[in-house]
Order: sequence, then structure tokens, then C-alpha cells
Amino acid sequence: MPDLLVSLYSKEVETLINKAEAPSGVIIRAPLAPELHIVRDWVLAQFSENWASEVMVAFSRQPVSCLIAVNQTGLQGFACYDVTARGFFGPTGVAPEARGKGIGVALLAACLQSMKALGHAYAFIGDAGPVDFYVRSAGAIVIPASDKGIYEGMLRTPTKT
Ligand SMILES: CC(C)(COP(=O)(O)OP(=O)(O)OC[C@H]1O[C@@H](n2cnc3c(N)ncnc32)[C@H](O)[C@@H]1OP(=O)(O)O)[C@@H](O)C(=O)NCCC(=O)NCCS
Repeated sequence: MPDLLVSLYSKEVETLINKAEAPSGVIIRAPLAPELHIVRDWVLAQFSENWASEVMVAFSRQPVSCLIAVNQTGLQGFACYDVTARGFFGPTGVAPEARGKGIGVALLAACLQSMKALGHAYAFIGDAGPVDFYVRSAGAIVIPASDKGIYEGMLRTPTKT
């Protein structure tokens, strides 16, 4: 999967930041340190150990480099930045039953706004899965690099035999 580049000064991102809105009843906010175990366990249950590890790194930052989407029933989604590498957006994910309502785009918009405020001019999306999601929502372009990416050679949990 390719790495993507997003200019935080593009018209697309300006529009995204100005227009993206979480659906009614959903709040996008930074999580509090005491919520770490809840966010980590949720990400582990919904997604993967790798993403749960990245969430823990996000919580080690001050301010926490992660945003969550919450409604009255609890967590609906999360998004991190500046975790695996400076300037990286992700990982991000929305609960399967909450997808398609604008939560993913609202999390992306809020993170890109935070990254811009911190002084980034560009955001990278490493090893992007849903490339079209980023192309359409933030004007992302594929970085034409055939070289090894940052995840090359990463240790992975061995499969038990
Ligand atoms: C990608 C993801 C975060 C999007 O969240 P979401 O809340 O469903 O997204 P939204 O409802 O905000 O979608 C906004 C738009 O993006 C489009 N979109 C959503 N997921 C998409 C995908 N996987 N590919 C292409 N377009 C997508 C929607 O159709 C919608 O378009 P529209 O406004 O024209 O209707 C979510 O599908 C997810 O958690 N996927 C699994 C984890 C993942 O792949 N994370 C990204 C890792 S890089």
C-alpha cells in the first residue's frame, strides 16, 4: 500500500477543515490521560495490537496526539498523528456500525487542523489502506516511491502454531 502526501495549505484541506462536521450527537475531542486504557482496549478489540500500541504512544505526548469520536454510548472512532513518524497521520478507524456518517472525515479534519497548528506544512499517510478516502476528502496524492517504506522489516506478532 502506498504512502500519501497531503498539503495542509491546499484548498481541499481548507474546505475540509471548514466544512467537516461530526454527525449530530457525536463529539470529536482529545482524550484524557485517564481514558488511555479505554481507548487502547477499544482499538485493540476493533482493530489490532499494532494500532493499540500506536495509541499508547499518542497518549505519551502532551498534548495527546490523538482525537476520539464519542457519543452517548461511548467511543465511535479515533485518529492519531505524529506517532509512527513526525508528520504522519494515522492510524484511524471508526466502529463498523458507525461508518458512512461522516465521523472518519470529521476526525481527519480535526487532526489535520491540529497538525497545521503545530507547524506542519504537510501530512503523510503511511501505508494508506483506503486511498480514495484520502484523495477525495483531503486531496491526497500518492508518493511515487518504490523504495522501502518505514514499516519495512517491522517486527510482527508471531502466529501461534
Ligand atoms: C476509513 C474510515 C476511517 C472512514 O470512516 P467513515 O466514518 O466511514 O468515513 P465517512 O463517513 O466520514 O466518509 C466520508 C466519505 O468518504 C467515503 N469513504 C469512506 N470510507 C471509504 C473507503 N474505505 N474508501 C473510499 N471512500 C471511503 C464515504 O463514502 C464518504 O463519501 P461521501 O461523502 O461522498 O458519501 C473507516 O471506513 C474505517 O474505520 N475503516 C477501517 C480502518 C481503516 O482502513 N483506516 C484507515 C487506515 S489508513
